[in-house]
Amino acid sequence: MTSLRDAALAVRENAHAPYSKFKVGAAVRGASGAIYRGCNVENVAYPEGTCAEAGAIAAMVAAGETRLTEVYVVAGSPRPVPCCGGCRQKLAEFGGGDVPVTLATVAGAEEATTIATMLPGAFDADDMV
Ligand code: THU
Repeated sequence: MTSLRDAALAVRENAHAPYSKFKVGAAVRGASGAIYRGCNVENVAYPEGTCAEAGAIAAMVAAGETRLTEVYVVAGSPRPVPCCGGCRQKLAEFGGGDVPVTLATVAGAEEATTIATMLPGAFDADDMV
């Protein structure tokens, strides 16, 4: 059975990162158990680039799922790659605060965290009632 790490490492190979040269792979598990993958896709107009996490979330939503239960992100960074702020908010949209997130390096270092730890005090839908 494919692990989230294997899925994230494999999709990272497809990253389009000619500008930063920093390839990122993300894999999320939907509530159904299915795995969805995403890689960063950069653009010559730099702000138009998208993160790996955003790609994985888009794949999940396109497949008809809107809840995730597990997240894995990997890059060739010296420390387990931290999700950017925007991706923390994107993950919080589709996963509860207790959802486990593993941040990793290609070399094999891993850091276990959760969505709530990465984004304490997150703004959510309950704030708008
Ligand atoms: N990147 C991600 O894909 N995810 C993150 O959470 C951190 C940053 C990408 C965006 C850009 O293509 C490259 O890494 C350098 O910032």
